[in-house]
Amino acid sequence: MKSYKKITNICCIGAGYVGGPTMAVIASNCPDIMVNVVDVNPNRIADWNSLNLDNLPIYEPGLQEIVAKVRGKNLFFSTDIEKGIREAQIIFISVNTPTKTYGKGKGMAADLKYIELCARKIAEIATEEKIIVEKSTIPVRTAQTIKTILENTGNNIKFHILSNPEFLAEGTAIEDLQNADRMLIGGDNTTKEGQDAIECLSSIYERWLPKERIIKTNVWSSELSKLTANAFLAQRVSSINAISALCEKTGADVDEVSRAIGADNRIGSKFIKASVGFGGSCFQKDILNLVYISKTLGLEEVADYWEQVLLINDYQKRRFAENIVSNLFNTVSGKKIAFLGWAFKKNTNDTRETAAMYVADYLLEETAIIHVYDPKVKSNQIFADLEYLSSRTNEENHKLLKVETDPYQACKESHAVAILTEWDEFKTYDWQRIYENMKKPAFIFDGRNVVDSKKLTDIGFKLYQIGK
Ligand SMILES: NC(=O)c1ccc[n+]([C@@H]2O[C@H](COP(=O)([O-])OP(=O)(O)OC[C@H]3O[C@@H](n4cnc5c(N)ncnc54)[C@H](O)[C@@H]3O)[C@@H](O)[C@H]2O)c1
Repeated sequence: MKSYKKITNICCIGAGYVGGPTMAVIASNCPDIMVNVVDVNPNRIADWNSLNLDNLPIYEPGLQEIVAKVRGKNLFFSTDIEKGIREAQIIFISVNTPTKTYGKGKGMAADLKYIELCARKIAEIATEEKIIVEKSTIPVRTAQTIKTILENTGNNIKFHILSNPEFLAEGTAIEDLQNADRMLIGGDNTTKEGQDAIECLSSIYERWLPKERIIKTNVWSSELSKLTANAFLAQRVSSINAISALCEKTGADVDEVSRAIGADNRIGSKFIKASVGFGGSCFQKDILNLVYISKTLGLEEVADYWEQVLLINDYQKRRFAENIVSNLFNTVSGKKIAFLGWAFKKNTNDTRETAAMYVADYLLEETAIIHVYDPKVKSNQIFADLEYLSSRTNEENHKLLKVETDPYQACKESHAVAILTEWDEFKTYDWQRIYENMKKPAFIFDGRNVVDSKKLTDIGFKLYQIGK
């Protein structure tokens, strides 16, 4: 890269959960670099440009403060993708890579159409040498596809392709970006040009991350490491969830088991908290992708191994919903059930693949009446989730489900409360007041093991927690 070390302009295609926060953190750490985040979705860009920071399209602790500091100075959000591409020396591709919903690999493979569209657009517009960074999570060897498109449809200019997967976790994205455990950069480390491109990207992260945290590998290792990291994390959740079912049958307590095994530093204490099941946009799709790649390469046993992580997750969500029905005397028809939480985890408004929507769908099929309260998720998102998942019409969903802005109202007159997200505020509610306003016996199904079991059973609740 000719202009190595003198990077003054970067562009990110895709203003989503990754593109927005990642570029905000780069802009705030590199005031001399112009950062343009571009997207095809004009509504999303308008929300990013919103004067009222509460209207940013993404909720993440600390994000509003950073956007307030750098937006309009060296961080810009725009729909002018061509300008963004033209002016940038480094282009991050941070578009969505969902599971395919059609054709070959339907329901398993990653849909790379948005990645390909980006590559074609860059090839069409670029007239100068550029570094292209894969930020999206993609199947191993996707860089080859991008390279082929860039080299065969472009203006005969040089592109350097790097893989730089994002490991941030929603809910702690800003902290994760600002203080990343590691930053992974995969590139062509066999050539001088490739090494220069790696160093160029590395030099940006070195502005705020210690050099030893930047791991440099070949492109294929980097691409595969991202899928592997998510598969390992999800596998831990499914492992402890499988044990939670065993605990319920044996009198063991899953939180005690977690504490006991987590004290072993070979195992570690993170990601072994039993729950109603993992959600989020990544774990399921990335494991499906890993399973698909393994199958395509003839590695059936490997595919089956990873697929089991997803089967246990589905089992856990279903088990939770079935348990509500069986405890409520085998029928929830016409009964009000309050849902506390809809987001797939606390401190985010993201609801993609949230366990809540699967549990709700199960109960709505049983014609329960659900009232949902979530501190950050908006009503239209909840109905969009249900429409995506179920065969019921939007009108039918509106008849059965109400979204509340007050948790006490959501719980009032209900037969049961189901806790689907581990929002901290749930721990400090006036549970006595909630109990008094509920139908008796008053049930709580705590899908996150967040409430104080002694306190609640003393009040009189019939409490069900995972793995207890
Ligand atoms: N969300 C996470 O926690 C997370 C973490 C690590 C990695 N990832 C990966 O990062 C990638 C992006 O995820 P996300 O959660 O930010 O997705 P997202 O859906 O929130 O955002 C993607 C954005 O890309 C835009 N887009 C799609 N095609 C485009 C095109 N051709 N030109 C311009 N814009 C286009 C969409 O309009 C959308 O706003 C995915 O591959 C995901 O697997 C996500």
